[in-house]
Amino acid sequence: MTPPHSPYTEIPVMLDDVVALSRDRVKMDEKTVLRYANRKPAKHAAEMALVERSMPDLPAGARVLDAPCGAGRLSLWMAQQGWDVSAMDLGSAAADFTRKLLTDNALSGEVDVGDVFAMPWERREFKLVVCFRLIHHFPDAQIREKLLTELARVADQHLLVSYLSPWSYTGLKRWLRYRLTGRRSRQNHTSLTELQSVLEPLGFILARDVAQRRYFHALHMAYFIRVSNR
Ligand SMILES: C[S@@+](CC[C@H](N)C(=O)[O-])C[C@H]1O[C@@H](n2cnc3c(N)ncnc32)[C@H](O)[C@@H]1O
Repeated sequence: MTPPHSPYTEIPVMLDDVVALSRDRVKMDEKTVLRYANRKPAKHAAEMALVERSMPDLPAGARVLDAPCGAGRLSLWMAQQGWDVSAMDLGSAAADFTRKLLTDNALSGEVDVGDVFAMPWERREFKLVVCFRLIHHFPDAQIREKLLTELARVADQHLLVSYLSPWSYTGLKRWLRYRLTGRRSRQNHTSLTELQSVLEPLGFILARDVAQRRYFHALHMAYFIRVSNR
């Protein structure tokens, strides 16, 4: 197996080290969680519209997981649907913020601090699992595979994962800059085929691929359904 590369150097390192490095870079502290909660209203609205267009109809009380939850906007939306929400984030500031957001809106949910690469739940514990705006932080396909495998483990029926499509204005611009200058973006674009190649052997097929704005914005939500018990 080829060792992955650190996002910072071209020296091959162990997969766990890369996960640790990436994790340190992405983890939200108090300052970033506030910044995230107050991101541009138009950007937030467009991302939430993508979430709403992607989500399946589920009955009230359906057990769902938002991982990672960040500042809790998806947890809030899912709790407002009447679903039974669990949420997790590596940053305790993010978990605290999400917990408070739910309480302030007279909603409930279980919010934990934890690592999405090693979650505490049983296999197929949740009817739906959503992982929004995380996978693009990981520069290596092996890390992304590890993440997808863990998400698929706890998802019983529905698995939604956002990714940045390479077939977009931003994706092509970053690719061109890399070819011309060797400079990599911190945001990693992933093909839908890569997601499918990991999830299909685990029993999931693609139900739909929803773009924020196809070919213009890179952000997509891939919605997978479990079709076999693997
Ligand atoms: C860009 S935010 C997205 C949050 C949320 N899904 C949203 O879109 O509002 C990424 C989040 O991933 C969390 N994170 C990074 N690595 C993680 C890991 N290994 N396990 C759990 N959370 C992680 C960070 O703390 C941060 O809150």
